[in-house]
Amino acid sequence: MGSSRFRSSSNRSTPFESDHQQFGFLIPSISRKYRSLSFDSGLRLIVSLSGNQRFESPTRLVMATSALNSDRKIVTGPAGYVLEDVPHFSDYFPNAPTYPNPLQDNAAYSVVKQYFVDDDDTVPQKIVVHPDSPRGTHFRRAGPRQRVYFESDDVLACIVTCGGLCPGLNTVIREIVCGLSYMYGVKRILGIDGGYRGFYARNTIHLDLKTVNDIHRSGGTILGTSRGGHDTTKIVDSIQDRGINQVYIIGGDGSQKGAAAIFEEIRRRGLKVAVAGIPKTIDNDIPIIDRSFGFDTAVEEAQRAINAAHVEATSFENGIGLVKLMGRYSGFIAMYATLASRDVDCCLIPESPFFLEGQGGLFEFIDKRLKENGHMVIVIAEGAGQDLLAESEEQSTTLKDASGNKLLQDIGLWISQRIKDHFAKKMTLNLKYIDPTYMIRAVPSNASDNVCCTLLAQSAVHGVMAGYNGFTVGLVNGRHTYIPFYRITERQNQVVITDRMWARLLSSTNQPSFMKHEPNHPVGEAGAMKW
Ligand code: F6P
Repeated sequence: MGSSRFRSSSNRSTPFESDHQQFGFLIPSISRKYRSLSFDSGLRLIVSLSGNQRFESPTRLVMATSALNSDRKIVTGPAGYVLEDVPHFSDYFPNAPTYPNPLQDNAAYSVVKQYFVDDDDTVPQKIVVHPDSPRGTHFRRAGPRQRVYFESDDVLACIVTCGGLCPGLNTVIREIVCGLSYMYGVKRILGIDGGYRGFYARNTIHLDLKTVNDIHRSGGTILGTSRGGHDTTKIVDSIQDRGINQVYIIGGDGSQKGAAAIFEEIRRRGLKVAVAGIPKTIDNDIPIIDRSFGFDTAVEEAQRAINAAHVEATSFENGIGLVKLMGRYSGFIAMYATLASRDVDCCLIPESPFFLEGQGGLFEFIDKRLKENGHMVIVIAEGAGQDLLAESEEQSTTLKDASGNKLLQDIGLWISQRIKDHFAKKMTLNLKYIDPTYMIRAVPSNASDNVCCTLLAQSAVHGVMAGYNGFTVGLVNGRHTYIPFYRITERQNQVVITDRMWARLLSSTNQPSFMKHEPNHPVGEAGAMKW
């Protein structure tokens, strides 16, 4: 079928001229005309229109859709229930044909009781609640549906990997190909060469079960990747010209913003093309989701560097092993690697500013640990201490990479030198600096990440086949979900140093918090601490 144009329902003359029970396709037409949407106590949808007009749904609804604007699908329900839903073909292609899910004839799946996910299944964002808490935000549960919106022979899917490397990229590629082929009988799958710019600047790569069979054993991405290169018009032109109707985008928050722009342009052009994002970030800095694939591998691989640092440190007089780990804005790899290791004496992350000199500073702590143990290991995330570095060099770089990220100076080298200089006259110090960052990023994913990649890929495929669109797939409280792009890209996830996890790390290393206490204010009082 390729990219075909469908009539958009937004041209309808009255908001409710069709079957009142099919709210999905009414969204585009009513979204500009209603004043408010709510439920009455009998779970009927109440729509207030301008000019005191009012619409009540004729039937009791388990769930009804309200749209705050045409970009967001927000569903509200009793007791403060909110569903932040994702777009669906039925929203704007009311007459799109559907087909029975081929999985129901697949021997491997037909034996599974309740294999298909109920359309009303949703997953709560917060699972710690009080008796009187509102039910809060939910996301649509991922998984296969009874009916699909693509016939297998009509599918032409493509996969693109964008941004920096991350363990597991090849596993995700492999499992999208396997999922499409084994579960849905899709035969035509293309790889986009070298990130977003590959859509318009390179030839595509043919992907099938044979070509992807062994790729999970290698790090990197068989498709190649790049930063930047996002030109929405050229990319959608290429999708349209090639007849691609399923687009799987594996990338970080910048790439997910790109995916959202591609989806909007596809919708604007009225193309029946699905766009799904699979979130990728070794730094684990994507919000909402429990963790991103590759993170576990990075933490595990970091142990090898920390072990080496420990061996070096314990073998020399006043030995210090200093390990730099990735984490531009978020210190999750450093924090988890420290908690996993037990050999780390001090962990420094971007979210927790620190200082070197004076009481409570890093030099004082190093002095103390060396006197106590004769050696120590320091882990530093690459984004930590950038303010100190900029201050001492009297220059702060404003240079950015092609993804728009600030280019960082090497904090590991800088702090190693500062420590050496500080202790030079006091004692013999043996400091060994290890930078394993790119070695960590380049390894294949470990067992747990391979499972994570497989489930993400399968969930993405199920969602696309079921007609969901413009979503990122992600694990929320242990369940796979479809999350609207805007929730993934609105902010970056960071370690909250006032949360318990950071306190657990401080208790494990017994390092200083590097917080300066205001005199006359006991710690714990609001406003009592300053950085
Ligand atoms: O964004 C993820 C990340 O791993 C950062 O921690 C790191 O700064 C960056 O990628 C480095 O990637 P590159 O050198 O490819 O720009």
